[in-house]
Amino acid sequence: MTSREPPLISTTGLGVVYGKGANPVRAVADVAFTVLAGEIVGIAGESGSGKSTLCAALIRALPRAALLSGEVQYGGRDLYAVSPGELRRLRQRELAMVLQNPMTSLDPMFTIGDQLTEVLQVRDSGGDLRAKGIALLRRVHLTAPELRWSQYPHQLSGGMKQRVLIAMAAASAPRLLVADEPTSALDATIQEEILLLLRDVRDAHGTAVIIVSHDLNALRRVCDRIVIMYAGRVVEDGPTEAVFSAPRHPYTRGLIASLPHLEDNDIVLSSIPGQVPDLTRLPDGCAFAPRCTDVLPACGLQQPLSSGAGHRVFCWMAEVSS
Ligand SMILES: Nc1ncnc2c1ncn2[C@@H]1O[C@H](COP(=O)(O)OP(=O)(O)OP(=O)(O)O)[C@@H](O)[C@H]1O
Ligand SMILES: [Mg+2]
Repeated sequence: MTSREPPLISTTGLGVVYGKGANPVRAVADVAFTVLAGEIVGIAGESGSGKSTLCAALIRALPRAALLSGEVQYGGRDLYAVSPGELRRLRQRELAMVLQNPMTSLDPMFTIGDQLTEVLQVRDSGGDLRAKGIALLRRVHLTAPELRWSQYPHQLSGGMKQRVLIAMAAASAPRLLVADEPTSALDATIQEEILLLLRDVRDAHGTAVIIVSHDLNALRRVCDRIVIMYAGRVVEDGPTEAVFSAPRHPYTRGLIASLPHLEDNDIVLSSIPGQVPDLTRLPDGCAFAPRCTDVLPACGLQQPLSSGAGHRVFCWMAEVSS
């Protein structure tokens, strides 16, 4: 993979605002972001930082109330200019998603087996699709997969449905898979195995994967690149090991420091002091400045520019010290 390869998906100046009127919520602002074919990118950041909104914008799945600005290029085309028919084709063959709220994504009228078969048929018309489907259900640790095959979605728990959706996404061998907290409804012991399954999908089919997760340790093990968001903006974006071993943004450093760790044989849980800002009343400058320990005069006045190429950071202090 070279840096000259055109990205599979890229955004320029991407913004999303919810609601009109007096207090619109500026959920995503000025995001420039690229994902290469076959790359696994993790997105992290506190609740409300715009991760789900960004994911929905990337696959043209925003709710009606959302106002989009900027551009999303997918495979060299403006994703928002493709016809509804073409968008349907892309959804069927190239784009897959596992979203945060799984309840809405399975069709209540069809069995799990019917729905998995339909996805498998798009790619793979030969062989025993039932056997392949059941093997996939087993890989996402669904109990009694043969029984589930003939059951309807309402007969499964939320966690089971989420596993089925992950199996369906894997079965479709897409070019891009967007997984928004795909494992948060599942117990901790299998979360990482499921994320590793997404890596197998990438290895087998060259799928690019975007994973949103609050589990930074799991992202570290699975992703090639990490994007950190704060108050709707990307604040840091770089190769996974660089971001973890040499984080450049004070927010990233805070997130990493708040991972549970051992000090004198005690487990220490800390968090970044202060609160995420109100997205209806954002400051002119860096939104993290009120919580930051290293503020310069510029921080309160103007958005920081990015510095660095492969490992980008949006911080005035990084600008000064680099
Ligand atoms: N449909 C909507 N209508 C209005 N506001 C919304 C809508 N969806 C999200 N928001 C607001 O947009 C902001 C970003 O939300 P988003 O769900 O993208 O964050 P997130 O990073 O995914 O958070 P979490 O980690 O809790 O999933 C929040 O302030 C949220 O309240
Ligand atoms: Mg979310």
